[in-house]
Amino acid sequence: MSAPEVRGANEMHGAIEVRGATVRYGEVLALDDVSLTVEAGRVTGLIGMNGSGKSTLFKTIIGLVRPTAGQVRLQGADPTSARRRGLIGYVPQSEDVDWTFPVSVRDVVMMGRYGRQGPLRRARAADRRAVDDALERVELTDLAERQIGQLSGGQRKRAFVARGIAQGADILLLDEPFAGVDKRSEATIVRLLRELAASGSTVLVSTHDLHALPSLADEAVLLLRRVLFHGSVAEALEPANLSRAFGLESDANPEEAS
Ligand SMILES: Nc1ncnc2c1ncn2[C@@H]1O[C@H](COP(=O)(O)OP(=O)(O)OP(=O)(O)O)[C@@H](O)[C@H]1O
Ligand SMILES: [Mg+2]
Repeated sequence: MSAPEVRGANEMHGAIEVRGATVRYGEVLALDDVSLTVEAGRVTGLIGMNGSGKSTLFKTIIGLVRPTAGQVRLQGADPTSARRRGLIGYVPQSEDVDWTFPVSVRDVVMMGRYGRQGPLRRARAADRRAVDDALERVELTDLAERQIGQLSGGQRKRAFVARGIAQGADILLLDEPFAGVDKRSEATIVRLLRELAASGSTVLVSTHDLHALPSLADEAVLLLRRVLFHGSVAEALEPANLSRAFGLESDANPEEAS
């Protein structure tokens, strides 16, 4: 396999730097010595089969999961301080969200502004404008006052994308934002992510939609506990690479790892 994105140590200056990250959940080895540099101004697609460690990688990057070895730097900062500074927006996989939480769509999007508000979380005009603008961009203005749990799956995704947009974070992590989303909503989200990258943001997005990958991403990472490949989308989609990533080879079952 070629490795067009291999960089020397002296060139390590991406917006997201993961170095030698290993994560275990008890017996399960979820990430095995993962090193990854994600550059600003691009959309990077994260591809891998169920259980390959994508969500774990996101959680490691934002500091929700602590690696047993290795480290993460976000624009040079550790995850906790980067999060405190509002540097990272995170759209979690739907399964990781409590949808019964009694907040409206507008409240969810406003959460993206908390980092800019004081301890009393008093929304100012600029916060309200940012929220209105983000709701508009994901086409949820009409549903803004609904409880978040009373939206469809695709609408919920868009609400969380709006939260990331309202936050104005430099780094945006999206864990399967297209799962259960129809083609029109997917196209809306893709367009937004491309706009954000074009304006200098760092966008890392996991997806199972390989068909959409060329229009979504500038580069792709294939993950199977380790980084199997990091390079162009076209090369990532080559059959030999996909069959390794999707477990069509004997050593591929991540659930059997320890
Ligand atoms: N909290 C946890 N406790 C124990 N094991 C976990 C936990 N979270 C994830 N795992 C295991 O770690 C491995 C990686 O899981 P992860 O959720 O990161 O995969 P994924 O690539 O996001 O999968 P999917 O495509 O299904 O979302 C899996 O084997 C999973 O069962
Ligand atoms: Mg996942």
